[in-house]
Amino acid sequence: MTITEPHRPGSDTWSDARLLYALEEVVETELNRHLAVAKEWMPHEYVPWSDGRNFDGIMGGEAWAPEQSKVTEIGRIALVVNLLTEDNLPSYHHEIASLFGRDGAWGTWVHRWTAEEGRHGIVMRDYLLTSRAVDPVELERFRMVHMSEGFESDNRHSMLHSVAYVAFQELATRVSHRNTGHQSGDPVCDRMLARIATDENLHMVFYRNLLAAALQLAPDLTMQAIRDVVVQFRMPGHGMPGFERAAARMAIGGIYNLRIHHDDVLQPVLRHLKVLEVSGLNPDGLQAQEELGLFMGGLNGQATKFDERKAALEARRAARAS
Ligand SMILES: [Fe+2]
Ligand SMILES: [Fe+2]
Repeated sequence: MTITEPHRPGSDTWSDARLLYALEEVVETELNRHLAVAKEWMPHEYVPWSDGRNFDGIMGGEAWAPEQSKVTEIGRIALVVNLLTEDNLPSYHHEIASLFGRDGAWGTWVHRWTAEEGRHGIVMRDYLLTSRAVDPVELERFRMVHMSEGFESDNRHSMLHSVAYVAFQELATRVSHRNTGHQSGDPVCDRMLARIATDENLHMVFYRNLLAAALQLAPDLTMQAIRDVVVQFRMPGHGMPGFERAAARMAIGGIYNLRIHHDDVLQPVLRHLKVLEVSGLNPDGLQAQEELGLFMGGLNGQATKFDERKAALEARRAARAS
């Protein structure tokens, strides 16, 4: 990577290439920190293999039936959404490899991250099939549809948008896996998803620290990228078969909803980075910061309305049940 123009930190003369170059040292530091804290784990240890048996078809075993599943209905819905999200890894790899590059510390991180993410799909699929938690035929058909669509981020062609997106998205994934485990009704599932959630948390820390460095280096552009990403945020699963309905169920079921998105995903990252307190911004950066603050206030209001609707629905259900 060569730098041909002089760069003026704080100005909007930053190109992606220059930012990548300027942040490479941070990536190297964060990569080494990550490698020192990430513990090796074996996906096969989390799978109840002795519960497994042959399926119908070539092996002539027993076909899947819903009553074989030990997992709650909301757990089944969320597990499929979360696995399909992990399954789309080739598309995510393509996105970040295109934006971050495959050279130096950036490349080492991109490949290491991809290898770690690969474990998540492996262990979840092995668990789901061995325990007969979900319909394997539907799962495979959904995977084909979802992966055939590919994934394209909403903010293409800016590495700062990408870094901001993944900082929030890794935390969103962590929270979604953790809540799915808690609501699955199966301690084996809960333990497996807790292990994945630990990985997602380390990924979030990596990207969050990188975003902190970007805020120092190019505060105005980074502020604008954070605003764009927060305002337009969508989970990577959008576009999978039946996503809207599944997302609505997961919202009511307390796995992922506006309140969780605001309190457990957006706020922790924004607060940690003190995004709304950054000073010395240029007019564009300042405008982005103000819009971000307004958006967060509005989102909190929407989340409160959602909480009220959820509480009313739960009260009606409880009344019907008694
Ligand atoms: Fe993952
Ligand atoms: Fe991750």
